[in-house]
Amino acid sequence: MTMRIAVFASGTGSNFQAIIDAERAGTLPVNIALLVCDKPQAPVIGKAEQAGIPVYVFEPKQYASREEYEQDIVRKLQQMDIELIVLAGYMRLLTATLVEPYAGRMINVHPSLLPSFPGMRAIEQAWQAGVKVTGVTVHFVDGGMDTGPIIAQQSLAVHEDDTIDSLTARIHEVEHQLLPQVIAAIVAGKVKLDGRRVVILQ
Ligand code: GRF
Repeated sequence: MTMRIAVFASGTGSNFQAIIDAERAGTLPVNIALLVCDKPQAPVIGKAEQAGIPVYVFEPKQYASREEYEQDIVRKLQQMDIELIVLAGYMRLLTATLVEPYAGRMINVHPSLLPSFPGMRAIEQAWQAGVKVTGVTVHFVDGGMDTGPIIAQQSLAVHEDDTIDSLTARIHEVEHQLLPQVIAAIVAGKVKLDGRRVVILQ
């Protein structure tokens, strides 16, 4: 069993690269069919080109509204028979135009233990709050900001000698493991959504 996925990213693309690496290593049975990116200069685009993955780049400021650029994205996703969308550092809020057609088929990785620290700069928010435990969440996407049903979470301790940089590096390592694992579970049909609760079958 495999699945055609699109990854949405706006920046560095280390999570995108982790998905590519897992696919190439044979541990993730997906076809990474498309990268969607809202920033023509983002380093993630080079990673896609190097891996031979098609890229759809758009510039939000060339559109009158979010709905308009999302309509174009949805058209592209439908043309390409995309079955699952993975938001991996996509720094834009979504509207119903994109969320509704892909309800239950769109996930996001977030660098905190939601519902704590949603939104931008989550690692910095957690650091400044002085938490002793933080982590990574992978969740389904709904209309809110990092509010959808939680699929998986992995915690990690904040060490006494951590800096925000060392903590950030460990959080990224966890993301790079957890996100491909969750995608693999979805592809295997093991992830069941029941209202707000998600059950992962063993
Ligand atoms: C990750 O920390 C992800 O959780 C957040 O944005 C960051 C993207 O990093 N949503 P990268 O582009 O995958 O390196």
